[in-house]
Amino acid sequence: MLVIEGLHKRFSNGFVGLESVDLQVNKTEIVSLIGTSGCGKSTLLRIIAGLELPTRGMVRIDKQIITKPHADISLIFQEARLMPWLTVWENIQFGLQHLPKTQRNLLTGEIITKVGLTEFAKALPRQLSGGMAQRVAIARALVTNPSILLLDEPFSALDAFTRLSLQDHLLKIWEYDHPTMVLVTHDVEEALMLSDRVIVMHGNPGRIYQELAIDLPRPRRRTDRHLQYWKEQLLDALDLTGDRLAIEA
Ligand SMILES: Nc1ncnc2c1ncn2[C@@H]1O[C@H](COP(=O)(O)OP(=O)(O)OP(=O)(O)O)[C@@H](O)[C@H]1O
Ligand SMILES: [Mg+2]
Repeated sequence: MLVIEGLHKRFSNGFVGLESVDLQVNKTEIVSLIGTSGCGKSTLLRIIAGLELPTRGMVRIDKQIITKPHADISLIFQEARLMPWLTVWENIQFGLQHLPKTQRNLLTGEIITKVGLTEFAKALPRQLSGGMAQRVAIARALVTNPSILLLDEPFSALDAFTRLSLQDHLLKIWEYDHPTMVLVTHDVEEALMLSDRVIVMHGNPGRIYQELAIDLPRPRRRTDRHLQYWKEQLLDALDLTGDRLAIEA
């Protein structure tokens, strides 16, 4: 279980990015973080990933406290961040240098099939569409078989159609190994399609405002009328944070 306890983050300039954040994410659970720009979503994800330390509180996987990047945790960003001089195959297996070549190739072969890019193994990043590049980034993050996958707006730079297909794709990948996922998104429908729980955050200082448990089986249909109910609940919660008004004022 991923446990976040009493997390507080004050930056060196005195700005408080996060205040009293408590969250528990069960194994195999998919949790989305949603909230206005600047409410601390990326900061929270970076602290979970061990890329940044909290001022107070802690992140742990079961009993193990996270203070630096950890083999069980992978982070995927908004843009694919591939190495342009390496092929798709080489980009995916970059994090496996410590393994013997046969094992490296075996793992890369498995994951490249899962993301449907076998035919592009030898392609360079500049030959890929945005959606394909992001699939390579997902493969690279998953090839080390992390138990926790953190995603920071992974699809928000993509067109709407590609975004929908990658959402479906992510769920299919989740079906294989059931990694625990924490997904930051601005997209209400994306959160509702994918998540067991949606955490609404409130800005300045960043904290958790409300939590919605989306009690619907997956895969879900985007047109499911039950989702409409949750959409209203979620939009209401986002409105009630007052963050949007604060921006407009
Ligand atoms: N190193 C830093 N020093 C000072 N302030 C910071 C630092 N990093 C982030 N912040 C501030 O902390 C707040 C939260 O930032 P963060 O990037 O976590 O927001 P976010 O919710 O991910 O926003 P967005 O949706 O735009 O990505 C912002 O107000 C940001 O300006
Ligand atoms: Mg962010």
